[in-house]
Amino acid sequence: MAALPDVLIPYAQAFDTFFKAHYAPRRSTTPHSIQEPIEHTLENGGKRIRPLLTLLGAELCGGSLQDALPAATCIEMTHNFTLIHDDVMDDADIRRGQASVYKKWGTNTAILSGDSLFVQSMMILTDHYDSLPSNRFHDLYKIYLESIYEVCNGQALDMDQAADRLSSPDDYLKMIDGKTAALLRGALQMGGIIAGGSSTQLAHLAALGTDVGLAFQIQDDLLDVTGSQEKMGKLIGGDIIEGKQTFLMTTLCERMQSSDRDQLQVLLSKPKRDASDVEWVLKQMTTYGVVKEAEKTLDQYYREGMTHLNHFDGSKAHDVFSTLIHYLMGREG
Ligand code: IPE
Ligand code: IPE
Ligand code: MG
Ligand code: MG
Ligand code: MG
Repeated sequence: MAALPDVLIPYAQAFDTFFKAHYAPRRSTTPHSIQEPIEHTLENGGKRIRPLLTLLGAELCGGSLQDALPAATCIEMTHNFTLIHDDVMDDADIRRGQASVYKKWGTNTAILSGDSLFVQSMMILTDHYDSLPSNRFHDLYKIYLESIYEVCNGQALDMDQAADRLSSPDDYLKMIDGKTAALLRGALQMGGIIAGGSSTQLAHLAALGTDVGLAFQIQDDLLDVTGSQEKMGKLIGGDIIEGKQTFLMTTLCERMQSSDRDQLQVLLSKPKRDASDVEWVLKQMTTYGVVKEAEKTLDQYYREGMTHLNHFDGSKAHDVFSTLIHYLMGREG
């Protein structure tokens, strides 16, 4: 990933310092067998995009970055928990350029360390925000829980759609709205709630989070096809091998002539696809202009997000967030 733009560095540094200090205290009470994979995951990089959203969500609503640091930590820990379980579900051996928890320690440890990380992230909220006015604490917790509920639903649709092999673009959008956009949306809204944002402001944060989240997942799908393993830190072509319904796959199915579509269906009905299958699918994706369509669509979602951001025009964080969107648009990892 390209270097973080200068205006975002103070946010990333403030987060990093708080984050390092706040998962450590549980070391003494969590058994080593699950604390080790948790620390491996939390210390093994990651772009830390979601915490930036929480910090900026607070500032967009006139609050302070400092007050939002525990929520940003909760969101990043929760995200890492979803990745540990996601790699089990996706049979993924590589995460952030290293063996996934599932590959290194096995499924049982991946399940339990993920569960523990999830609970530890919730504890951050109760440890830090129970002195907020009670309605705000309630709203904060409610948005957080609803976001995770939506992530679970999205992940379930992801599994169902991979098995059905016949999802429409609308089904696909519903699935990624849950599995990915929900957490980005929740991250932003939590920042806004901590800052005491108005219901109109929170609605714009939700819409902004949705657009950025949908763009982010379509880009993740695209980079699974066009990216490099070194920059992405995961196996390229993994979605095709696993038969996942991605933006590119659903658009390809829609555009293909029936003879090509029949061939694709045969290929997708196998339990897994090999290197020559991946090569054939990649060729079709280029021929049918699906790669270009993904680039165009994700760009549109990022730009749509900007229109919601513009409701916060004049706030200090507006320009910083706009820089974040441009940084995300150019990401390669
Ligand atoms: C990966 O998220 C999972 C998706 C929703 C695409 P990120 O690409 O933010 O993962 P890290 O934290 O930077 O590794
Ligand atoms: C991940 O989607 C969504 C969640 C982790 C909830 P993907 O399965 O596309 O993410 P990667 O590609 O493994 O990071
Ligand atoms: Mg995955
Ligand atoms: Mg997945
Ligand atoms: Mg992916």
